[in-house]
Amino acid sequence: MKLLFLDQTGKSGGAELCLLDIATAYQNSCLVGLFEDGDFRQRLEQRKIPVQVLAEKAIAVRKSSGAIAGLLSLGQLLPLIHRVAGLSREYDAIYGNTQKALVVGAIASTLSRRPLIYHLHDILSPAHFSRANRRIAVWMANQARLVIANSKASRAAFIEAGGNPALVEVVYNGFEPEAYAVEVETNELRSSLGLTGRFIVGHFSRLSPWKGQHVLIEALQYCDETVSAVFVGDALFGEQAYVQQLQQQVQQLGLRDRVKFLGFREDVIPLMKLCDVVAHTSIAAEPFGRVIVESMLCGRPTIAAASGAAVELIDPGVTGWLTQSGDAKALAGAIESCRKFPTEAAQIAAFAQQQACQNFQLTQTNAQIHQHLQNRLSPVNYVEKAN
Ligand code: UDP
Ligand code: GLC
Repeated sequence: MKLLFLDQTGKSGGAELCLLDIATAYQNSCLVGLFEDGDFRQRLEQRKIPVQVLAEKAIAVRKSSGAIAGLLSLGQLLPLIHRVAGLSREYDAIYGNTQKALVVGAIASTLSRRPLIYHLHDILSPAHFSRANRRIAVWMANQARLVIANSKASRAAFIEAGGNPALVEVVYNGFEPEAYAVEVETNELRSSLGLTGRFIVGHFSRLSPWKGQHVLIEALQYCDETVSAVFVGDALFGEQAYVQQLQQQVQQLGLRDRVKFLGFREDVIPLMKLCDVVAHTSIAAEPFGRVIVESMLCGRPTIAAASGAAVELIDPGVTGWLTQSGDAKALAGAIESCRKFPTEAAQIAAFAQQQACQNFQLTQTNAQIHQHLQNRLSPVNYVEKAN
């Protein structure tokens, strides 16, 4: 099967890391087309996945922008659409991995008459997208042969926004558990970060208001003095005002000695292993939340905000802890209970690791995606469904 994958960004966010693993399975028969250059291109090249940067300049539509901005940007998109349509004639399908990739892919697929696949990594809700952008996304996605939703939560929001339920299959992100199961010597890392003797709460997300880093900072003031927070991740999509806000919050609450911002790191696994607890604090529904599963695979006690897919990934009290989104006191309570009852926390984390190893295998994810693609792209099935 020959696939033309499309992704709007050159940065390595969760949707791109997911695509990296999927495209690896098609490395001899695919092309990944990016709409901007960045470190994601290098990662694809390291895996020997064919990649091309297709757009000459970045496309300007924010998630919150309205219909007019969306339509105006269509003008900017025309050369790109033309290029994608031309390229796609060599492939069995166009596989859009992001919203702008969906728009470009849907129009190109009409021109080249190649089927469209959409991998939905977003929750199409008002908290995440303007009404106009939700409408455009649903309209385009309903042209697809298959919509792969990264969770039941993203599937439900898609249908709620007008998406055709018959198109959707839920496939969770997959991981290679062996990579997370390795023993890591963390004492040196702990001391190099000045964290010896501290109870470390790790937060692994890009810095963005909806990822709720501010909730963990607020929670720290209700935790024991020995608790420190380590933030791993950078503002990938221009959220500089939020970065400043976080720094001011740390200053105002007098928490400078208890908070560290490490920026974007590639050594997520050793950093997770270093943590006594990993906290996920999104204040809007999380579409999937790779970091939640990664933390469980690392055998770390995991506390997540109870909305979106987090409630599908964590069974509270069994494989982790769920606290109400935005509730700093409840988060502090869960952190404190892990600190005070480490044996119980370790037992839950060990069971979560075992469950996550079984439930989020990359081999299973890739097999499911391949099967869905075969089912939906096969001419026989398509004709039968159309009739
Ligand atoms: N990540 C990373 N380095 C960082 C912070 C995060 O490699 O400094 C990775 C993290 O391990 C996870 C991904 O980025 O695999 C983020 O995916 P997630 O689904 O949690 O959130 P997204 O940012 O895609 O909404
Ligand atoms: C997006 C979502 C995130 C999800 C990732 C992979 O980046 O924000 O929740 O884990 O895609 O599907």
